Amino acid sequence: MKILSIESSCDETAAAVIEDGRRILSNIVATQVEEHRLYGGVVPEIASRRHAEAISGVTREALREAGVTMADIDAVAVTAYPGLIGALLVGVNFAKGLAFSAGKPLVAVHHLRGHIASNYLAHPALKPPFLCLVVSGGHTHLVLCEDYTRFRILGRTRDDAAGECFDKAARAMGMPYPGGIALDKHAEGGDPHAFTLPHPKVEGCPFDFSFSGLKTAVLNQLHNAKQKGCEVNTKDLSASLRFTVADILTEKVIAAAKETGMTDIVIAGGVSANSELRRQLQAACDKEGFTLYMPPLSLCGDNAAMIGAQGYYEFISGQRADLSLNAAATASIEG
Ligand code: KG4
Ligand code: ZN
Repeated sequence: MKILSIESSCDETAAAVIEDGRRILSNIVATQVEEHRLYGGVVPEIASRRHAEAISGVTREALREAGVTMADIDAVAVTAYPGLIGALLVGVNFAKGLAFSAGKPLVAVHHLRGHIASNYLAHPALKPPFLCLVVSGGHTHLVLCEDYTRFRILGRTRDDAAGECFDKAARAMGMPYPGGIALDKHAEGGDPHAFTLPHPKVEGCPFDFSFSGLKTAVLNQLHNAKQKGCEVNTKDLSASLRFTVADILTEKVIAAAKETGMTDIVIAGGVSANSELRRQLQAACDKEGFTLYMPPLSLCGDNAAMIGAQGYYEFISGQRADLSLNAAATASIEG
């Protein structure tokens, strides 16, 4: 079964053709990152306009590269939530029009469910149930994936997402948007123990996260040094932040795995590209005898292939959207 999938929740306009939820026939991503970099972050109004300009061309390219036409497509899947509302609306309305005009069923996909499904494309053996750490620019969730379309949140951030913490710290150190990637590169060769940063805990909620105190600690280091007229070694500060975030995430993942009895561990979302997180989680999983599944770097960021993978499982579970489908800025992964 072939699914044409569309993603436009943030600053990538993407379309893909996916076979049976596991095989990528095409995966086209048009990124707007260069334009948003001029402003230090995503400008929602610009994102919506660029999606509207790019979406038909990107979709046509996805069909062409897969060697198919709309006649060969069994269903259209689209990211409907969560994300920037204006950006989501472009994809949702385009997908509705396309599905209606081609007489194909339409499936709505939750963006974070899509991130998790990026792992199905890379790991043929991976099947639920498993424990997943979803770490993106806007979300940090520890999720029990009970089935392909059944999710239970075990913990979440109470304030900033891990990606947001990286992005804001990187920006304060003068790195370009998106800061998480730049910070990860800059941290290479830095001393991860040069700065002692806080390990915030959420009282009574062992699987919840809090990253705003950590971000503030980094900003304070920079402000204090500036006031004293000293130079901060940003390589060491980046390495220390990266180490601390990875340490916090790894510790909670392992504790949640022990608590739930899960031995298959999965990571997903933009921050799953972080090299220190990948290293620490791999070492911890090896030590505990757990199996770790990580998306390849090419599928960590936003793409439509992951939406097609999840769209397939939503479709075979019977989910159908109709022309009343609307986008939503927020929505729980639990549904
Ligand atoms: O999943 P994603 O592409 O978009 C959202 O759904 O939010 O995640 C983007 C986030 C940004 O905060 C970006 O800085 C972060 O992922 N990111 C990284 C790395 N690559 C992307 N953070 C740390 N290290 C990386 N290598
Ligand atoms: Zn994302």
